[in-house]
Amino acid sequence: MTTQPGQPIALDPAQIYSALPNRGTMPTIDLVAELPADAEVDTLIVPVFQGANGLELAATGSGLLSKEQEITLWRVLTSVGATGKREELTPVPGELLATEGSAPATKILALGLGDIDDSTDEDIRELAGVASRAAGLGSKVVSSLGLISPEAALVGHALGGYRFAGFKGASAKNAASQDAAGQDAAGQDDAAASDSPVTITVLAREADAALLAQAQVDAAAVALARDFVNTPANFLYPETYANTIREIAEAVGLGVEILDEKELEQKGYGGIVGVGKGSEHAPRLVRLTHEPSADNEAPQVALVGKGVTFDTGGISLKPGANMWDMISDMGGSAAVVATMVAAARLDLPMKVIATIPLAENTPSSTATRPGDVLRHYNGLTTEVLNTDAEGRLILADAMARACEDEPDYLIETATLTGAQMVALGNRTPGVMGSIAFRDKVAELSQEIGENGWAMPLPPELGEALKSDVADLRNISASRWGGMSVAGHYLANFVTEGVEWVHIDIAGPAYNTEGAFGYTPKRGTGVPVRTILATLRHLAGTTKGG
Ligand code: BES
Ligand code: MN
Ligand code: ZN
Repeated sequence: MTTQPGQPIALDPAQIYSALPNRGTMPTIDLVAELPADAEVDTLIVPVFQGANGLELAATGSGLLSKEQEITLWRVLTSVGATGKREELTPVPGELLATEGSAPATKILALGLGDIDDSTDEDIRELAGVASRAAGLGSKVVSSLGLISPEAALVGHALGGYRFAGFKGASAKNAASQDAAGQDAAGQDDAAASDSPVTITVLAREADAALLAQAQVDAAAVALARDFVNTPANFLYPETYANTIREIAEAVGLGVEILDEKELEQKGYGGIVGVGKGSEHAPRLVRLTHEPSADNEAPQVALVGKGVTFDTGGISLKPGANMWDMISDMGGSAAVVATMVAAARLDLPMKVIATIPLAENTPSSTATRPGDVLRHYNGLTTEVLNTDAEGRLILADAMARACEDEPDYLIETATLTGAQMVALGNRTPGVMGSIAFRDKVAELSQEIGENGWAMPLPPELGEALKSDVADLRNISASRWGGMSVAGHYLANFVTEGVEWVHIDIAGPAYNTEGAFGYTPKRGTGVPVRTILATLRHLAGTTKGG
């Protein structure tokens, strides 16, 4: 796959897939060393910071503004009380900087960086995200944040500019007609017209095509994961989800295999069948394979992601308040699919196989009951004492299957426990597993700003999963350490010798509060960039080395 610098990415964010009747939109981003003289600029983003003596302009001398214009801008900003503090946005009419009747932009948006000496790449990503969100729909934005860090500015601007209008107004009609009658070609045009994205040109010292392509592919992957999560469960259920994954995966050249409920039953996937059997929407297991185009020495990696398209709790029913947030319970699977799409598009030099279990957890007369015993793909049995601890049941089968491929590394992620949020809050993924690999993944996650944190698997918490009648029970008898208890449960399904990491994203996958930095409301796309960073790291190592 090749991505032409400056061209919109091939996996068009406006493309409508059967289970995603309304996708979000993302800015079109470009990276240039010099702005064409006749460029139309609606909004010019100018970083400013808090210097020792008050507001100062950052990234000056870019050629975007003349010395005189910079002085005028500084005067205007200080006269209206701008200080350059972090996230301060001060709009200034471009007219005020006009020379010989021509203004550098319709609007200048001064963006406060705070203390510039302390600012990290993550600060730049966040501030670029804030600026993207402040830019009006359909506007042409030029940003000089790339002069500070091109990679951070590209990623932050792209991620922060994501918008999910979802099912409002005209788009709602499309969604309704799609629900009844499938793909609606006329609807596609409406959706695109009502929500035209921002165009963001990032100015940098040099225009690095590889950097731009990587940022575009990564951002598209994050947007895809967000779209999946943002799509409600009446559109996205195992069958439609699997079909949509097939469409997207085949378009980028991934190998695709889908097992339906009958095949799952025949092949002994008792965990996936047991969780899915209460719903009219039968479960699926999706397998995606990325084969690199050239031979290499890199390790083979398995990815697994929890895909509970809606989690009511099942017979152990959840309370009604906030149950709507459970549309995000397929966030792990969404991140894994999106990562696979990026792996294919970037032709990452390693073999990666994803195993993605999809099920809807709902009560009915055919649902699994508390006390039922399920037999997993590897023969281990689980006594189900709480049907709301369902994620581990489907992951157990998927991880056992993934290990059959004899991967060197297994990266698994899931919206697994409320206990993750109790322990770490809703922005910090809990990272558990093989010690050295766990620590590496947490470190990479912190570098790219998803902030995963290493958590232990204390041995006594594993003891609490012993059952009288089966190999395991699916909940512990104690209320403490629920995140690590779940991690212990999963450890039983990892084959000896496979380096393994489990990333609990119960909180971080879904933002139920206001937008911040480059993170919108609802689906966040976490931990797509953590997994991509890990794959890139592993691609640079050798098998067994
Ligand atoms: N999907 C939930 C975990 C979750 C909670 C994700 C809140 C996002 C936000 C999971 O299936 C679940 O219900 N876990 C139970 C486990 C318990 C029964 C041992 C929980 O955390 O309460
Ligand atoms: Mn649950
Ligand atoms: Zn769940």
